[in-house]
Amino acid sequence: MNLLAPSAPRSVAAPWSWIDNRRSVGRLLRLGWVVSGLTLLSTVGRSGEVDYERDVVPLLQQYCVDCHGPDVAEANLRLDSLLNSLRGGDSGEAAVVPGASEQSYLIARILHSDPSARMPPDSPPLEADEIALLKGWIDDAPAWSATQAELAEQKV
Ligand code: HEC
Repeated sequence: MNLLAPSAPRSVAAPWSWIDNRRSVGRLLRLGWVVSGLTLLSTVGRSGEVDYERDVVPLLQQYCVDCHGPDVAEANLRLDSLLNSLRGGDSGEAAVVPGASEQSYLIARILHSDPSARMPPDSPPLEADEIALLKGWIDDAPAWSATQAELAEQKV
């Protein structure tokens, strides 16, 4: 009897604690839903931003890299990588000013009113949504910080 006594309270409490556990499992599940809902929301928020590989590379490949790439680099401007884009070209104007598309020469040139100076030259201008993507790419300042650090290191 003495040996069994300590286990008695536990066996009485067991069914209740099992129910309690089910309740906390339910609470945990609900919490899980809330957390995954928030994660989903923030993922959707992020995917609304411009992604270099997904959104920008195809545009630059289609419109720019034939003349600003590894084979031909007009004005010594290459637009085939983040680092090269940030490096800019012969004019010395910053093709990309991270966080400030309105100060970026790349945007100035795709918006130029003279068709021979507008990029790509003597071609129809880029569509508004394409221009918006390029602006969004440049305006996402935090996405440039690693490239800025890399370029600064190379200039030392
Ligand atoms: C058919 C060839 C061609 C294509 C395509 C082209 N460019 Fe150019 N780009 C040039 C030439 C040539 C120059 C140099 C003369 C000048 O500045 O107009 C130049 C110069 C530039 C400059 C100035 C670089 C500097 O610092 O001197 C920028 C910025 C630029 N291009 C951006 C672009 C962008 C962005 C695209 C794609 C949307 C593009 N270009 C497509 C031929 C091209």
